[in-house]
Amino acid sequence: MLSNKSITSLSTALLLLINVATEQGGALAQSIPSLRDAFKNDFGIGTALNNAQIEERDPQTTEFIARQFNMATPENIMKSALIHPKWDTYNFELADKLVEFGKKHKIKINGHTLIWHSQLPMFIRGIKSQDSIRTFFTDHIKTVAGRYDGKILSWDVVNEALNEDGTMRKTVFLQQLGDDYVTEAFRLAQQAAPKTELYYNDYNNEQPAKRAGCIALIKKIQAAGVRIDGVGIQGHWHVGNVPFKDIEESIVQYGALGLKVMFTELDIEVLPRNFQGAEVSQRMTANAESNPYTNGLPDTVQQQLAADYEALFKLFLKHKDKVTRVTFWGVNDGQSWLNNWPVRGRTNYPLLFDRNNQPKPAFYKVLAASK
Ligand code: XIL
Repeated sequence: MLSNKSITSLSTALLLLINVATEQGGALAQSIPSLRDAFKNDFGIGTALNNAQIEERDPQTTEFIARQFNMATPENIMKSALIHPKWDTYNFELADKLVEFGKKHKIKINGHTLIWHSQLPMFIRGIKSQDSIRTFFTDHIKTVAGRYDGKILSWDVVNEALNEDGTMRKTVFLQQLGDDYVTEAFRLAQQAAPKTELYYNDYNNEQPAKRAGCIALIKKIQAAGVRIDGVGIQGHWHVGNVPFKDIEESIVQYGALGLKVMFTELDIEVLPRNFQGAEVSQRMTANAESNPYTNGLPDTVQQQLAADYEALFKLFLKHKDKVTRVTFWGVNDGQSWLNNWPVRGRTNYPLLFDRNNQPKPAFYKVLAASK
């Protein structure tokens, strides 16, 4: 049995240890070179932020984020299911916090996203009439985009409206509102948020067929006299298989339309996957081979990941006249959605920082590319 006295001294020692570790954490974070500084003359460096990060639950994490990134996209909280949970009810609490977070740490916010067929509020399923969908669509854009005009830099106005072959995806919006719904979304956003940049965002829209559809969609918006400022390429790619040529052609072709080009959700998958892209409804069944790196990433894969990131950033820099932002979909490997999609509970390594916010070889390659 331990005496009261020894319990007290044990807890004092423990507290001391925690303090030292925390201070070292802070000091360590300061000793890591800053990405936002390294690319400050080139393009913005962004990250996706989850609830805990937006609420600043851990001061060290906040400090780390503020040092590394000057742009942020909420990973979930501005999606319609979360910000507009009931027909007449909006929940702005965390989105307002995010705006404050941005102000405090000089981080510009990209709103994500006004119109998307996924993560829709439950009540949408019960709506069958075209009028009600139109009312939702109009009120949602006016209310949400209007509230944050002048407070955030930009919106992903529409997310993932295209199929792989470049045709329009059959979403509830296409079915109820018709082919022009994307233009309409931008028109409404332009009215509600005249001071906010307006973007179209998708995955695989660097692939030739989908890119052609994306260009046609953008031209249609422009022909209607409606403002669109940029196009986001999500950038959910695979290690050893990053489509550099398609990416470069896309930057050039989107840039030729007079648009800013952004890489909005960058991560590089290192685990086995039998399909490409980022279709959130797509799942894969787990098997004996699906989670191979629970004890760490093999050096060959680590080096390939670093080489891929290096080549990507060299390409972004080559076109820095058009590329305005590169956003990682998460701060570190532990937080990445790829640990749970398309298979739940895997150990993934898609980002520049490891689970303890320590830089990986890919980080140093990216940093070197900035020089
Ligand atoms: C993902 C989030 O990271 C997850 O937390 C959520 O469960 C599903 O959505 N394309 C997008 C993002 O535009 O909004 C998705 O984010 C990833 C794919």
